[in-house]
Amino acid sequence: MNRTFTMIKPDAVENGHTGAILEKINSAGFRIVGMKKTQLTVADAQAFYAVHKERPFFDELVSFMTRGPIIAAVLEKENAVSDFRTLIGATNPAEAAEGTIRQLYATSVGENAVHGSDSDENAAIEIAFHFSGRELF
Ligand code: RTP
Ligand code: MG
Repeated sequence: MNRTFTMIKPDAVENGHTGAILEKINSAGFRIVGMKKTQLTVADAQAFYAVHKERPFFDELVSFMTRGPIIAAVLEKENAVSDFRTLIGATNPAEAAEGTIRQLYATSVGENAVHGSDSDENAAIEIAFHFSGRELF
């Protein structure tokens, strides 16, 4: 079984979409291996999105990701990384396919409701960033 990492981002938590998004995740056949509600520090967000540190939107992204609580979760399924990216849709919700989580619940390209790992290698790094082995079942 393959694992991926997701966050329900501050916009979706604020807007009351946590339950609906978890229902979409369950209905799509993902098993929740670990999950917590937490709030990222500025240092956490800068480290998590370090790959984007030279991008013009980096400060805005860090400010957004730290402004309120998130739900962090580890999901398991065959082809979890790739299938979850399909379930969430394109980064820009205006380009996200019908019925995807971002098409349904995102506000803008910056405030786009959910994160999904983009490779098996990054999924393993992101899972280890947020969870210890004892929190995963
Ligand atoms: P994520 O990492 O959060 O799953 O999103 P992604 O792969 O679809 O997109 P990525 O290119 O990795 O961008 C990370 C996050 O940065 C914010 N962003 N803002 N204002 C902008 O033009 C812009 N572009 C990206 C979004 O929150 C995006 O998900
Ligand atoms: Mg990404």
